Amino acid sequence: MIKIAPSILAADFTCLGKELDSISTADQVHFDVMDGVFVPNISFGLPVLASVRAYTDMVLNAHLMITEPVRYVKRFCEAGADVVIVHTEADTEAHTHEALRIIHECGKKAGISVKPGTPAEAALPFIHEVDEILCMTVEPGFGGQKFHFDMLPKITALREMIAAEGRDIDLSVDGGIQVRTAALAAKAGANLFVNGTGVFETVDRETYIRIFKRSVEEASA
Ligand code: DX5
Ligand code: ZN
Repeated sequence: MIKIAPSILAADFTCLGKELDSISTADQVHFDVMDGVFVPNISFGLPVLASVRAYTDMVLNAHLMITEPVRYVKRFCEAGADVVIVHTEADTEAHTHEALRIIHECGKKAGISVKPGTPAEAALPFIHEVDEILCMTVEPGFGGQKFHFDMLPKITALREMIAAEGRDIDLSVDGGIQVRTAALAAKAGANLFVNGTGVFETVDRETYIRIFKRSVEEASA
């Protein structure tokens, strides 16, 4: 099934409640956490996530672009994330296993993410433990960038790995997603689409979300 997760990095924070209302027909809320170390930008963190959790029942997916996320995953779970994603590049393999274990121990879903320069194989050591693999299709750190078309073979490789694992693991793409790039990513094997700029620069988000999902479903059928 094709799912869409608007990234509130592109929302207007002076009226975040209204912004969340406007995307209530989406499948998830994508919550980009940046620490100014793992990526050259700082976004928002635990207090904002807790406010969003108190406001909405939507699935909250926290994409942690922070260094050594094992230090913070428990607090993101406690603040109300339903899914917590850590980057394979953000710490040692042992600490990443530990982070995934903690997230599951908290009763939440766990995922890993790979930057554009990281090969698909980097996901292999974690494939038995994850509920989602997020393939970055831009360099993490900023919204509004252009989709990296050279990520399409990597998306296919990740989908093959997931098929071999035989479990229901979401394969998400994040960065530069619009209907055209999402359709290509869907053909390559992605099923969950993070979309910041596209959703929030549109006035009628309900219509945008409906047409986005239908168009991507048709294009990838
Ligand atoms: C980038 C973030 C993305 C970003 C996507 O580091 O992980 O989630 O907000 O934004 P768009 O859709 O504008 O590329
Ligand atoms: Zn993201």
